[in-house]
Amino acid sequence: MAQTINTEVTRVDARRKVTGTASYAADSIPAGMLHGALACTAVAMGRIAGIDTARAEAEPGVVAVFTHETLPDYKTVKGFYAGGPGSASFWPMEGTEIRYAGQPFAYVVAETAAAARRGADLIAVRYEEDAAQIHMDPGESFIIGAGEDSEGMTLTKGDIEAGLGAAAQTVEATYRTPFQHHNPMEMFAATAEWRGEQLTVWMPSQSVRTLRGGIAKAYGLPETSVRVLSPFVGGAFGSKAGVTPYAMLTIAAARAVGAPVRLIVTRPQMYTVATFRPETEQKFRLGADADGKLTAFEHVEIAQTSRFDDVVNPGTHMTRSMYACPNIHTEQRLARSDTNSGGFMRAPNEMQTFFGLESAMDELAWKLGMDPVELRRVNDTNRHPVKDVPFSSRSLMESYDAVSRSFGWADRGREVGSMTDGDWLVGYGCATATYPTNMSPSSARVRMQGSGHAYVELAAHDVGTGSYTIFAQIAAAQLGLPVEAVDVVMGEADLPLAPIAGGSTTAASSGSAVHIACTNIARGVAEKVAAQKDGPLAGLDPAQITLENGVLKGPGGESQSLAEALASTPMGEIEAEGQYRHPALTDKALRMTYHGGYGVAGPVTPEMAMFAFGAQMAEVHVHRYTHEIRVPRLHGAFAAGTWLNRKTAHSQLMGGMVWGLGSALHEITEVDTPRARFLNANIAEYLIPVNADVRELRVEMLEERDDYVNPLGVKGIGELGIVGTAAAVGNAVYHATGKRLTAIPMRISDIV
Ligand code: MOS
Repeated sequence: MAQTINTEVTRVDARRKVTGTASYAADSIPAGMLHGALACTAVAMGRIAGIDTARAEAEPGVVAVFTHETLPDYKTVKGFYAGGPGSASFWPMEGTEIRYAGQPFAYVVAETAAAARRGADLIAVRYEEDAAQIHMDPGESFIIGAGEDSEGMTLTKGDIEAGLGAAAQTVEATYRTPFQHHNPMEMFAATAEWRGEQLTVWMPSQSVRTLRGGIAKAYGLPETSVRVLSPFVGGAFGSKAGVTPYAMLTIAAARAVGAPVRLIVTRPQMYTVATFRPETEQKFRLGADADGKLTAFEHVEIAQTSRFDDVVNPGTHMTRSMYACPNIHTEQRLARSDTNSGGFMRAPNEMQTFFGLESAMDELAWKLGMDPVELRRVNDTNRHPVKDVPFSSRSLMESYDAVSRSFGWADRGREVGSMTDGDWLVGYGCATATYPTNMSPSSARVRMQGSGHAYVELAAHDVGTGSYTIFAQIAAAQLGLPVEAVDVVMGEADLPLAPIAGGSTTAASSGSAVHIACTNIARGVAEKVAAQKDGPLAGLDPAQITLENGVLKGPGGESQSLAEALASTPMGEIEAEGQYRHPALTDKALRMTYHGGYGVAGPVTPEMAMFAFGAQMAEVHVHRYTHEIRVPRLHGAFAAGTWLNRKTAHSQLMGGMVWGLGSALHEITEVDTPRARFLNANIAEYLIPVNADVRELRVEMLEERDDYVNPLGVKGIGELGIVGTAAAVGNAVYHATGKRLTAIPMRISDIV
């Protein structure tokens, strides 16, 4: 059997995707379906003083217009950060209150999507407008969950002031990151169909269990009465993780009109009906002795949140896990402003915090007159700096060494401004990448037929990352089948328990479940053939029969392929479930996962710290006169345990680096400060890198073995590649120009 893990297997769904036969949620059109459209507020704060729906109702094709006064049986759920499955705890259309710009205030149902849209535009609304503030005020920040507990939002180890006092060099710096929006290619959509008390919802989702659990609870229905389908997802990045108002409004509207309703959220509305990445401030104070060893590490992160939710993605938990230091102080702070609630966005804290941390480390290296790579080496550690447990594996410096070789780091000029290319100032910069190895409980069901076909079923998701392919590979490798002989079924809440496709958990968690299910298939077949009268394995002790690449092997060298053995059994087909739960996962975390919560083990267990690592290097050209910034080369080297699929993993890392480049130079949600609105609220006006921005992009994937993390030795990679890129670019800008850029995106006007 050919090896299938750690090879370049082409996506099993590639043909379906490029031929348009892969069915996304909005492609399912139930009979008699009507179309929904949202009308959203133009003001950010105040009250609805009156709504006139007469013109909308008179519009040909419009079936119904619902407002906060007329939508019967509309249910809401608690927000994610309040321990519920919703994306926010304040819900639109429950009353007249307006808490953010772009808040839905009416829902139109019509015979066509165009009529619904026209109807929404024809609604006349009067506001009582109050002043609103969209940017956070860092001076009004607060700590949630304050305490000395190291799991908490503040942490003090040693004496930070003493550490700074003992330092040969110190750095004190503040870095800023802006509001950002995910803009997935597949737009937000929800289709709801009621048949009596049976509800079916088609909706792109990162967590079909969260959706089903939230909807069932809201309507007081058993979960068996709610079907949630999300077979393919065209990008999510955190924006499709929770139960949103657009989903619950569509469900209520479908019930009210007595027909299935589909809503496709417009591009501008996508900015306010789901989550986004909040703006942040990253404040660092670092101290180091003359050899570069850190004597003090202080990080205070201030992140924006809404008035009604404490949206906290604790970035200081990550930065304080990075480098050895005897004196550490971190604070996780929030500051409120008048927006809808933010949430997760690809590497939800690491993108921002590592822009800060790795820029500050670069400043420290320059002050010390040290090679920035050597500064990381001096502060590398095999034990977690706070929890004092070993890292299960940590290939940070292996990553730096590999990328230094491929990039030619040693060839750089040692002084600021020492390299030029015509009118371009040239600089090199580096930065660390890391991502926690999070694992959630997962089950998988595998059915195998003696004819040589297998089916893998689980309530996991492929958000465009390649999960269909890696699960097929894992099963194929163990069962001894070609990848094409394995069908993977996902994206339905009724399938065996699987976690949210977030926090880079899917491959490690659900991959382990598939692996265990296949082991259980082999055990079941071994028991059957050992009990038979003839056959190569007949009469053996089944406990002594092992599975190796699809072949059952006895203790005396007896062997038979799993498929042949299975074919010799009376039924010729067998089904087994595999359940994976990392030993460090708490019972509470497990219970959260049943109904769609986010129960995670890791990254630090009582005995180990589990993280993936990498290093990135950027060559930046800054034009001497125009100050245009170009990035002709971006190299990364990463280690994340077992690579399941070298092609899809490479794409994930490359995609992360491209997005990291975008965050460095392009990406920002501009705001209209007086009106407290997101301004460039459309993918067409939200700048992202195009091919001409991405020149030489090289990804090196290092071999790393980690027997602790999970049976396959897999760490997550969906978010690793974006971490550190912006700092590598900014550090290269400094090398080229001597100008330290402390905010992203970095623009021509920032280089004076
Ligand atoms: Mo992803 S930002 O972990 O949903």
